[in-house]
Amino acid sequence: MKLWSKGFEPDKMIEEFTVGNDRELDLRLARYDVQGSMAHIRMLESIGLLSADELKILLKALGEIAEIIERGEFTIEPGVEDVHSQVEFMLTERLGDVGKKIHSGRSRNDQVLVDLKLFMRDELCDVADATERLFSCLQNLSERYKDVLMPGYTHLQVAMPSSFGLWFGAYAEALVDDMQFLLAAYNVANQNPLGSAAGYGSSFPLDREMTTRLLGFETLHYNVVAAQMSRGKTERAAAMAIGAIASTLGRLAMDVCLWMCQNFGFITFPDELTTGSSIMPHKKNPDVFEIMRGKCNRLQSVQNEIALLTANLPLGYNRDLQLLKDIIFPATREIISCLDMADFMLRHIKVKTDITNDSRYDYLFTVEEVNRLVLEGMPFREAYKKVGLEVRDGSYSPDRNICHSHVGSINNLCNRKIAEKFHRLYDKFKITSFPHTSK
Ligand code: ARG
Repeated sequence: MKLWSKGFEPDKMIEEFTVGNDRELDLRLARYDVQGSMAHIRMLESIGLLSADELKILLKALGEIAEIIERGEFTIEPGVEDVHSQVEFMLTERLGDVGKKIHSGRSRNDQVLVDLKLFMRDELCDVADATERLFSCLQNLSERYKDVLMPGYTHLQVAMPSSFGLWFGAYAEALVDDMQFLLAAYNVANQNPLGSAAGYGSSFPLDREMTTRLLGFETLHYNVVAAQMSRGKTERAAAMAIGAIASTLGRLAMDVCLWMCQNFGFITFPDELTTGSSIMPHKKNPDVFEIMRGKCNRLQSVQNEIALLTANLPLGYNRDLQLLKDIIFPATREIISCLDMADFMLRHIKVKTDITNDSRYDYLFTVEEVNRLVLEGMPFREAYKKVGLEVRDGSYSPDRNICHSHVGSINNLCNRKIAEKFHRLYDKFKITSFPHTSK
């Protein structure tokens, strides 16, 4: 049975091909579909398209459906195309003709749009929360290990002294930039598309400001065609933000793999957090970070997939858009699981505290020596040459006591300032509650 049934059933093969796994994906939209419907019928009542009594009955029935959804018992029956049809069928089954009234002034194109906006908004908040957890973890580690030196590399060659404080803190601050993208994606999602109907509005005097308020959206897509165009754009913005976080996390994973390697030996993890080999008894492999690196690399392709899926689509709704769900739904969960796994692993990281005492890292300190001579009055180029010659003839000996005091350097990490930057962004993710769903 279809909402659009006109007396004949479509071919089974056609149905399977066009619906695919959409029913399964739609289950994640169910609660938002009910929220959207609740706002829509309140609005219909306010413009005289439903009576107060009808509204009461419909809200009660939708409330019951919401409970079924929250209990995890909601299903989309075989033969029912999507979540929007299922909710409407459940209402008509319970209420008869009153149930059939809720579709006035909207279309499934409208419903899926508003569902996705609400869904993406929540998902992006979850991503922001997971990012915040890792950010705090990295900042704590940065403070804890701020005095532990490690080699800094350029061209993967020993370069200058760095520290675990700098390393952990760097990834924390990189996440601040990623939060900018995430907030931008959140702002794109936080706009009400409801009322665009099939994509070109309605002759009913729909009060779109009212549904915007009821659903706690920051603003609305005013132009109904722009509202429809936002399908795909919302997902693409989210994918961009996910890709940004993934690129930070992927690099962190690579550092960990490299530094767990015996040739570096800078960090280790407890045995139970590493993996073994089926043949080599000594192995403690960094599979977690390798999988993380791979997942994060894949996640960076999501925005391209969306770009290709939506490139050159004609204006208005096109069924291609349905396929977006299958791309973006797993991506938000995947980045959250990577962020949480990084947080979990890093809580157990063990760092080697005397790395730079090893003579193979002596040259880390050549620039310190040059700078010391400069402070004594020698011109930089002369000091550079002098230390260079000492290195060549073997007379150079490093002074490992360093003090880097400028903003953002080893002994002045500015983690508090970085935290302030982060929280100025993170604090904007708070969703206004849904006043109409609490009844
Ligand atoms: N499953 C569809 C989607 O995700 C719902 C909208 C269907 N609209 C239509 N005109 N066939 O896009």
